[in-house]
Amino acid sequence: MSAILPHGGTLINRLAEGKEREELLAKAEGLAKIPVSNWTVSDLDLIGVGAFSPLTGFMNEEDYLSVVDTMRLKNGLVWSIPITLAVTSDQAATLAVGQQAALVGEKDGIIYAILDVESIYKVDKKHEAVKVFKTDETAHPGVVKLFDRPDTYVGGPIRVLNRPKPEKFNEYYFDPSETRRIFAEKGWRTVVGFQTRNPVHRAHEYIQKCAMEIVDALFLNPLVGETKSDDVPANVRMKSYLALLENYYPKDRVFLGVFPAAMRYAGPREAIFHAMVRKNYGCTHFIVGRDHAGVGDYYGTYEAQELLRSFPAEDLGITPLFFEHSFFCTKCGNMASSKTCPHDKEDHLTLSGTKVRALLREGTCPPPEFSRPEVAKILIEGMAEASKTYAI
Ligand code: ADX
Repeated sequence: MSAILPHGGTLINRLAEGKEREELLAKAEGLAKIPVSNWTVSDLDLIGVGAFSPLTGFMNEEDYLSVVDTMRLKNGLVWSIPITLAVTSDQAATLAVGQQAALVGEKDGIIYAILDVESIYKVDKKHEAVKVFKTDETAHPGVVKLFDRPDTYVGGPIRVLNRPKPEKFNEYYFDPSETRRIFAEKGWRTVVGFQTRNPVHRAHEYIQKCAMEIVDALFLNPLVGETKSDDVPANVRMKSYLALLENYYPKDRVFLGVFPAAMRYAGPREAIFHAMVRKNYGCTHFIVGRDHAGVGDYYGTYEAQELLRSFPAEDLGITPLFFEHSFFCTKCGNMASSKTCPHDKEDHLTLSGTKVRALLREGTCPPPEFSRPEVAKILIEGMAEASKTYAI
């Protein structure tokens, strides 16, 4: 098994199987039903497989308040993002503490889990927004999602009865127990996790490869759950990752597996959450570059790094690797950051997202110093297929 302990010491498993599952499914029929969104289904599945260890269910009021205000669970463990189940007041009226409820997919009617109702509580969403996202502006994609939900939460442990089925790229879905086994089988003692919701451009590749120089392997772990509508869709990104790995990465030192969670865009707090989850997948190190999980101008370029630094190393239990803003320097003739390049800004190749989008839309590859041609080609095809605008 992987050398690194999961967050809290034990890899949680809340998946019901065999006879127990059959019994719970039969029981669920007679329980109060809570309709849940795809986002909540992805959360409950990640709880079920232990990606969110030590969580065994949706947060009760004590843990929720503690996480919002102190970035720690009631028991003191670091946890920065509330993982909660919101219900309408009508639904809440059908529930009672001490009873059970069935969590049912609102789109497909599938019974995904049974919840032991431990706590039913009203929350101050504005307070949550300001604490977690550092803003209550609805222009922020995480805040608008939060404000769209009801303000009654239900907490308690769950048992997962059915798992969501990926539409595509099934073979790149691995549970933490599997990645831990695979890393151990490959003999990797140190593995650096890389979170991304974007295509991997040269700057991403540069920081990954800098990290690979000091650890045994890279776990490329793109987030493929819900993202904002102008992010590049996961299926286009997956194609681009595969093309990149095929052409530019050593096969025996990289492992690609998806992270099927929703993107919160909570910047610094999400960086902590991302690191804890990657620890559960068996990573010993985690990359945090510029404006990790940020959006717009809500967070400072290195605020995520500063927040991670503010926690004692032993409380994190995974080693963050910090990287400064990286770029191609025409004078150096290579990728660099302000830590390694003495030249002026004018010598650095920087392309705005708008410029890159415009190039791709007209079918032009951005310069190879910005994006590998194999990646750009796939993005151009992806853009042509969907008539939407992607933020790249
Ligand atoms: S994120 O929302 O998933 O963080 P993105 O996929 O762009 O967005 O970033 C993935 C990781 O690469 C993050 O740790 C981010 O900080 C880092 N990163 C992205 N671009 C750069 C860059 N030009 N220089 C340094 N780090 C970067």
